[in-house]
Amino acid sequence: MQSYIDSAVNHFRALLEEQIARSERMRDVPPPKDYAALPVVTIGVIDGDGIGPIISRESTRVLEALLKDEIGADSIVLKQIRGLTIENRMAVGKSIPDDVLDEIKSCDVVLKGPTETPKGGTMESANVSMRRELDLYANVRPVSVPEEGIDWTFYRENTEGEYVLGSRGIEIPDTLCMDFKVTTFPGTERIARAAFEYARKNGKQRVAIVTKANIMKKTDGRFSEICHRVAQEYPEIEAEDWYIDIMTAKLVNVQDRARFQVFVLPNLYGDIITDEAAQIQGGVGTAGSANIGDQYAMFEAIHGSAPRMIETGRGAFANPASLLRAAVMMLKHIARTEKAAQLEKALDAAGNKPREMTAEAFADSVIAGL
Ligand code: IPM
Ligand code: MG
Repeated sequence: MQSYIDSAVNHFRALLEEQIARSERMRDVPPPKDYAALPVVTIGVIDGDGIGPIISRESTRVLEALLKDEIGADSIVLKQIRGLTIENRMAVGKSIPDDVLDEIKSCDVVLKGPTETPKGGTMESANVSMRRELDLYANVRPVSVPEEGIDWTFYRENTEGEYVLGSRGIEIPDTLCMDFKVTTFPGTERIARAAFEYARKNGKQRVAIVTKANIMKKTDGRFSEICHRVAQEYPEIEAEDWYIDIMTAKLVNVQDRARFQVFVLPNLYGDIITDEAAQIQGGVGTAGSANIGDQYAMFEAIHGSAPRMIETGRGAFANPASLLRAAVMMLKHIARTEKAAQLEKALDAAGNKPREMTAEAFADSVIAGL
């Protein structure tokens, strides 16, 4: 037992040193990339696993139609990136193979189909690795139900919390396991600032800070405190504290859920509650997700690779709307506001994809509405 304890303590020391170094690096970062000033914006397109190649192919077709002129003039390049598949990742034993990561880093932004995450074992999710490698700290997930007045934007912290050491916990065989949750001061400050900046720029009155600070006293306690400190720079916006449990209930309370506008929350709570929110909008197949950092950004569907759809032969009926909604966010992010609006309008006009409509037919109807 003593040797387990010793090796766990050593492991913990190494983690602590590494996380302190990560936190210090965050204080010294170059200014954010100005996409409007780039003569060429390179968009990497990644297929992924399961239904990924299907929804990615259809989304690419829509983008090629939408961006025909810019692609022709070489001011936008769509670059297909292969090799981020579960087979290839398992074969080389890396969540993102080195050559794939290099290709990703040669792009400005990435539109990514869902990738499979192996359960258990030590292989990290490709999403989690990419968010960390590119320092994509803000996971922005909008959900809207116009007829109910719902217009929510979630700012989920995306690089730390329960995720950053999720594959590196401690286990004493047959005795206990421990995972770690990490909240850094600069990491919290930057996600809080992103949420409040968004609220200010979009004329929102309220930001909900969602934690379980009554139980997770250190990590969530500081998260809430730091968000409130940042909120002082935004006196016109009200910062409210909510606990995650009651917030999950509030989101299904049709009487007063529309009062919420912007949410800022630690990684795992953000993961869970955004699936709930997406379901309220019409299902996870309808929701896009933006992973934003200062130098890179990655846009994806909120859902996973849906292996069951492939196994049951329903892959062709996958819904590309989620990835196309992500593409709208991507176009806004790279300062193509008009193109974003054009795609958004075509998606709204196409409506929710009927179950028996193929991904291809849905993409055709979006293209027709451009
Ligand atoms: C998401 C997904 C990912 C996450 C998985 C695929 C690792 O659920 O983007 O919400 O947990 O963050
Ligand atoms: Mg999720």
